[in-house]
Formats: sequence, C-alpha cells, structure tokens
Amino acid sequence: MKKLILILLTFVLAMSFMTGCSAAEQSTETTEKFVLTMQIGNPVMTVNGEEKNIDDNGTIPVVESGRTLVPIRAIIEAMGGDVKWDGETNTAVLTLGDDIITLVIGSETAFLNEEKHTLDVEPKIINDRTMLPIRFIAESFKFSVDWDEKTETITITKDIADNSETTKGGKTLVVYYSASGNTEKVANYIKDAANADIFELVPVDKYTDDDLDWTDESSRVNDEHDDESKRDIKLESTTVPNWSEYDTVFIGYPIWWGIAAWPVNNFVKDNDFSGKTVIPFCTSASSGMGESGKLLSNMAGTGDWQDGMRFRSGASESDVKSWVDTLNLAASNNK
Ligand SMILES: Cc1cc2nc3c(=O)[nH]c(=O)nc-3n(C[C@H](O)[C@H](O)[C@H](O)COP(=O)(O)O)c2cc1C
Repeated sequence: MKKLILILLTFVLAMSFMTGCSAAEQSTETTEKFVLTMQIGNPVMTVNGEEKNIDDNGTIPVVESGRTLVPIRAIIEAMGGDVKWDGETNTAVLTLGDDIITLVIGSETAFLNEEKHTLDVEPKIINDRTMLPIRFIAESFKFSVDWDEKTETITITKDIADNSETTKGGKTLVVYYSASGNTEKVANYIKDAANADIFELVPVDKYTDDDLDWTDESSRVNDEHDDESKRDIKLESTTVPNWSEYDTVFIGYPIWWGIAAWPVNNFVKDNDFSGKTVIPFCTSASSGMGESGKLLSNMAGTGDWQDGMRFRSGASESDVKSWVDTLNLAASNNK
C-alpha cells in the first residue's frame, strides 16, 4: 500500500513538474491520451484504438500469482520504448526516455535506474517468450494501469502533450536519407506526428539497385564499405532553409553494415547543431541502432544528441506515432 501511495505521489509530482511551465505554454498545450489494452488469453491488443497482434506467435497475457505477465517487446515498443535481451545473463533491459528497468528471468529483484525493487512475481519464459510483470513496468515508466476483473482486461494509459501547437511554425525538422524508401516512410510519419518540416538528403550520384547490392562483392556499397575514403558522398544540398529556427532535428538513415548509411555524413559534418536537440532514427532489417547515433554525434561535434530509435524496415505509422508522442517535443522545444 505504502509503495502504491509512493508511486502515485511520484506520478502526481512528475505530472505537475511536466505541466509546471509558464501560463503561456499551458494555454497552447492540449493533451491526448495513450491507451493500450490487453486481455488475459487474447493475442490481440489495442493501441490507441487500433487492434494489433501482440506478436506473430499468438502470445497471450497470462495471470501468475495474481499478477499479469505479458510478452513485453510489443508493449514497450508501442509505448515508445526499447527492449534489449541478454540471453547469457537472462536479463531484459527496458528503456523509455531516461528511465531504465533491468529484470532477470527467475529473479524477484528488479532495478529502476539505480533503485532496487522486489517484485511480487518473477519474470518468466513461457513458450520462448519473455513474460514480465506489466504493472511494475508500466508504473515505473509513469503510465497508469487499470485492471477490469470482469473482462480480465488491463488498460495502460498516459496523458501526452499534444505537440501540434508548440511545434507549429517549423520548430521541428526531419532530415533523412533513404536508399529504398523505408526510412522515407518513417520520416514522413514523424513529420506528421510532430507537425514538422522535412528535408531529404539526395546524393548527387544516386544509388541504383545494382549499387546497393551488398551480396555483389564488386558493388558500389561494398567498394565504399571496404574503403572508408570512398564514403565522402556529395549531396545535392546540405543547406536547410531557415536552419536557425529549428530547435529539434530528427535525423534518419538506413543501417548499412551496422552503422548509419554514409550519405548522411556530409550533412552532419556541414551543419552546426549548437542549441538543437538532435534525435537520430533508423530503419534496418534486424540490427539495432548500435553506435550509429553516437558516431554521428562525434562527427557533428555540436548539438544535444539523444539516444534515438531504430524501426524495422516496414514500421507502421502507429509504431512511429507512439514513439514521437512519448518524446514530449513541446517541452523540449520550450526548454
Ligand atoms: C548496403 C546495405 C547494408 C545493409 N546492412 C544492414 C545491416 O547491417 N543490418 C541490418 O539490419 N540491415 C541492413 N541493411 C538493410 C537496411 O538497413 C534496411 O533494408 C533499411 O530499412 C533500408 O532503408 P531504406 O529503404 O530507407 O534505404 C542493409 C542494406 C543495404 C543496402
């Protein structure tokens, strides 16, 4: 009970802190709700009203010792977070914004950032899926959790700042390079969700399908991959109109051999990101972001670079919107 009160207090404090900005800001900022529902035994969840399979294997939430265990990846990604799994130590690391939760299969001890917590039900592997106690996770990430006994439905909610007012006027920019259209789709979803402007990076010498064929040892990408000096790709333009007006810059690229596709490099080198929040994003077949954002940040030498987000090549609009909604751009734009 004490813990619940503490969590609620933390939540109320966090919300009052988040909304404790100037009156002018409050008057332009409206809120919308993130709502995710799941039902015990049901492989379909809803995210902001849209039905989705929890995963491709038909995994379902279950109840163990009176606590709901859920397959975590789909849910955390819907919340806009990221899940990393270390098979050697049986550890799941969940990240959302600045918060990190670490859980170990079969252990009742979990960490929220540096803080140790004792779970009342331990994480388990059921049918090859990592099942974690959703209440602890959702509340740690400052989402509210409701349980409807009758329908065995769990509802996870969070009020989200609507960015449309504060980002109006072009304070947010999405810059991207896309060789085959996947990153372009994600860039456009971000543009719509953040009410941002968009700037495409176009190589003067565009990549053909043959150029991109990494299975051909003599292809252009292989050649450039093997010889770093050949990765100096001239772009049609690296100059964004009204660059100084942007507070937040998303920068998107496909992953090539574990790093950012190098056509973005010259944009990053040519621009001054001082005073800007830079949020990298990428698409890939299976790799994570790896060091790609960090390498670009070093290349730029300026700007407040965030961790960013990796999307699968065919990411849906709702995946992208859920992530953008958690970024609270309105707050970051008005820092
Ligand atoms: C040259 C090349 C290298 C790639 N290397 C990786 C890789 O290391 N890991 C991965 O998951 N996907 C890799 N991919 C797949 C792309 O990252 C993925 O298809 C991406 O969504 C393409 O984005 P685009 O359509 O915007 O170009 C590679 C693709 C190409 C063409």
